[in-house]
Amino acid sequence: MFLLLVFLSLCFIWCLQFHWKRFRLYKLSRKIPGPLNLPLIGCAHLFFTGNAAEIAKRFMQMFDDYPDLAKAWMGPELYYLITKPEYLEVVLNHNATLEKMDLYKFIRPIVGDGLISSPVKVWKRHRKIIAPTFNQKVLNEFPGVICEQVNFLIELLRKECDKGEIDHCRYVTNCAIDIVGETIFGVSIGAQTGGKSYSLIFDKWMEVVFMRIFRLDYQFEWIFSWTKASKIQEEVKRIIHTMTRDIIEKKKEQIGCQLEADDEKKKPFLNLLVEKHLNNELTLQELEDEVNTFLLAGSDTNATSGSFILTLLGMHQDVQDKLYEEVSKILGPERPPTLDDLPKLKYTERVIKESLRVFPGAPFVARVVEEDVNLGDVIVPKGANIGLGYLHLHRSEKYWKEPLKFDPDRFLPENSINRHPYTWLPFSGGSRNCIGWKYGMMVMKIMTAMVIRKFRVKSSIKSIGDIELTANVVLKPKNGFRLAFEMR
Ligand code: HEM
Repeated sequence: MFLLLVFLSLCFIWCLQFHWKRFRLYKLSRKIPGPLNLPLIGCAHLFFTGNAAEIAKRFMQMFDDYPDLAKAWMGPELYYLITKPEYLEVVLNHNATLEKMDLYKFIRPIVGDGLISSPVKVWKRHRKIIAPTFNQKVLNEFPGVICEQVNFLIELLRKECDKGEIDHCRYVTNCAIDIVGETIFGVSIGAQTGGKSYSLIFDKWMEVVFMRIFRLDYQFEWIFSWTKASKIQEEVKRIIHTMTRDIIEKKKEQIGCQLEADDEKKKPFLNLLVEKHLNNELTLQELEDEVNTFLLAGSDTNATSGSFILTLLGMHQDVQDKLYEEVSKILGPERPPTLDDLPKLKYTERVIKESLRVFPGAPFVARVVEEDVNLGDVIVPKGANIGLGYLHLHRSEKYWKEPLKFDPDRFLPENSINRHPYTWLPFSGGSRNCIGWKYGMMVMKIMTAMVIRKFRVKSSIKSIGDIELTANVVLKPKNGFRLAFEMR
């Protein structure tokens, strides 16, 4: 009896302490609208059941129901869900919101403390090292090798012509992996010749990550370790890490342990990082984490966005005709695009921007608030988390007329002039934005131009609203990608 009393008293004290620590969060968030938050679990009841697509739908619905700003408790964690451009501008440029949320720990088994998930202390040092490897001088060397890999993609797609709709993302993903290999790693990976579908492998893992974020039971390591999802994670980890170690070994052989004395501002990503490792400025673990991060971040995002672009062109033949006309005029029938051609492909660029608007690769991202952040009319308290809802922002009627209409001319300079710069954020913003955005735009432009020059693509999907989405961390269509290819 005595022991039970001690136990109950300890529980009571723990509960008091728990709520006392959160008192300020309760107080400041009291008036913010949001879904029904139950004691202890908050709104986690909304995500107890269902697959990733159903959970994603319910999560996105919260942004629809409470535009601009909403409050949601997930167990003990308080979230401010934000979609108002003025708020986003403050948050993305604030020093107290650079830290990624604890939930990013679920991608750590594969990418460790690479740039996307690293704590701010590590992130600052690594971003400083890596940023010059994405400067314009380095990128200028890439168009030739990108074209070679896209030519290979075209050969593979040629074999799929006139067969009805196929899953083109499989091919585009393998091509994107080989492009990352040949450009930023300077190593051949051979995904396009290997016969493996990396898009399936990535999808499986990202679904695991997504389920871990929303299902409270999956957040406990010992429960998770018994699940089928944990086995999938181990298998993906084995495949990706084997690939990464192989890439690093190849690069070490290339460098031959001879430290190059060239200008650091001209060195591609992996050359610089391996040299930093050989110079003891990066540990092997840090090097591997960054290679894993860039392999995934550099290929899956480009591949998914590239696949959405082609799907949208297949759905909008008039836009496809206009893009084809531009590409034919600037590049002619066969010539591979050069660096000088890229700024001339203006309509192609607008198509890519509009595709990224309706299908932003990262539908939402999340940060931790380390000091109170003043949004003007609201204070987000220290200790809360902020979810930035890019998908909702990009599809909000408040900022985009007829948001589900695919209209690349929204991005004509005269049509963009009065738009708040934080209404279009596919690459996020501020100092923790996407480090690969210029590179990504280059890859997508070359790929789109070259593929459309060779093929007419057709989709049976009638409207953007018909594409059900699932948010496996990277935004994907719930029913997969489908597109028909015909030779021009
Ligand atoms: C269409 C293509 C892409 C899209 C839509 C995209 C989108 C994003 C977004 C939204 C973020 C912020 C994520 C967050 O705050 O959690 C991000 C970060 C990042 N992206 Fe991209 N990305 C793309 C392509 C790439 C490419 C090609 C690379 C690498 C070659 C890359 C590497 C990264 C890295 C390393 C970060 C973390 C940056 C940091 O925290 O300092 N991304 N990306």
